[in-house]
Amino acid sequence: MTVTIVGSQLGDEGKGGVVDLYGDAADVIARYQGGDNAGHTVVEDGTKYKLSLVPSGAVRGKVGVLGNGCVVNPKTLFDEIDTLREQGLDPDVRVARRAHTILPYHRVLDNIEEDVKSDTDIKVGTTGRGIGPTYEDKAGRRGIRIGDLLDPDVLRKRLEYVVPQKRALIEDVYNVSLADVDDVIEGVDVQNAFDVSALYEQYRRFGERLDEENMTVAAGEFLAETIEDGGEVMFEGAQGTSIDIDHGNYPYVTSSNPTAGGAAVGTGLGPTTVGQGEVIGIVKAYLSRVGSGPLPTELGDVDEQIEGTGEGEEYELATYIREEGGEFGTVTGRPRRVGWLDMPMLRHAARANGFTGLAVNHIDVLAGLDEVKVGHTYTVDGEEIDTIPATTERWERCEPNLKTFEGWEDVDWGDVAREGYEAVPENAKTYLEYLSEELDTPVYAIGVGPGRDETVVRENPFEN
Ligand code: IMP
Repeated sequence: MTVTIVGSQLGDEGKGGVVDLYGDAADVIARYQGGDNAGHTVVEDGTKYKLSLVPSGAVRGKVGVLGNGCVVNPKTLFDEIDTLREQGLDPDVRVARRAHTILPYHRVLDNIEEDVKSDTDIKVGTTGRGIGPTYEDKAGRRGIRIGDLLDPDVLRKRLEYVVPQKRALIEDVYNVSLADVDDVIEGVDVQNAFDVSALYEQYRRFGERLDEENMTVAAGEFLAETIEDGGEVMFEGAQGTSIDIDHGNYPYVTSSNPTAGGAAVGTGLGPTTVGQGEVIGIVKAYLSRVGSGPLPTELGDVDEQIEGTGEGEEYELATYIREEGGEFGTVTGRPRRVGWLDMPMLRHAARANGFTGLAVNHIDVLAGLDEVKVGHTYTVDGEEIDTIPATTERWERCEPNLKTFEGWEDVDWGDVAREGYEAVPENAKTYLEYLSEELDTPVYAIGVGPGRDETVVRENPFEN
């Protein structure tokens, strides 16, 4: 059977913890989209493992697959694998031959485009990992797939076609001299990023290593065989529904499909296989967001937070939630935007993904507040709506209609996790039951702290 884990909001919902929890019962954990724009920390026997590309299950001895829907930076992949090996692990990672390769010029272009947009309201705030430009090349039929790294002739031919185009784009469209971007992008040799021979040498070596270590697979076949042999497969979504390229707040989105349909397209299994399993929506009990885009239930202004100029009740509330929830970028340390839970966003996610269960994280972060609010519906242009509008401009005009819940007390959440649902504070249960009823989906798990054991587990989808 399969279990698909999907972010129901804007990424950073705590999917890693749920993958970790339920992934124990899985034999294979497969990612189906995205690349090293994701970030998760796994703690095993007191050791911290920081990963952005390798599926987290690899730390626990599971087979990790990067499906065809992923974009793979081989340098990140091997750096992560080597670090895990230095830490005494033996990760088993397979990469789809149909997955696309992130090359250094993708990273340069990602950064330049963001820079060009920096004074406008269309700046996305990307992770700068080259994700968008790589998916652009995939759709433009000029991408280089992982399988191409294994064949020297094909690799050279593809590079000879595409690299001059990228150089022209930088120099003639963006009017950027390559010498000017030299030290702007950490870890990228900008000169070599546009040099066919240098790229060929470097990527040919990656291909050889992939081959030597027998790491590439036809992902669909590999996963189908696992399932036929009675194996359990987990699909690990990265990012979240509201930054899905189709279903999110375009253009403030990532360039792939984190939604559950992506699990079929991005692995090579049929939607019926994914649909026969469970689809678990991961919900953070409030909202946080990195990057631009509408956020009708936003609390305070994050720029004021950065500048230290904010004041008033909302600002203080935002500061409190941000600090309690550790809502700061893992790389930059910049504060994330925060807001109340947004039900129109979640109704949209429940429909687009077909959730069969929910895992609600971080209810401990809200503990101790007198009141907890939820954006129940929106009002836009005089009309009340209960899901998000299709255009971002209309979404930006939405005003939330807030529903107020009584707050719940701060308790020993470790005890709650041990004792189970009965021990969850009553007002938090009211909040969770509202969520479950509105989305017509049972709550399978409640995250009450960052650790693996700090989860109240009501159902394990692999046992259903
Ligand atoms: P990209 O995926 O780097 O192209 O970034 C596009 C948008 O998705 C930006 O707003 C990023 O902040 C956001 N994003 C990408 N990956 C993540 C993630 O793992 N968590 C939260 N936001 C993300």
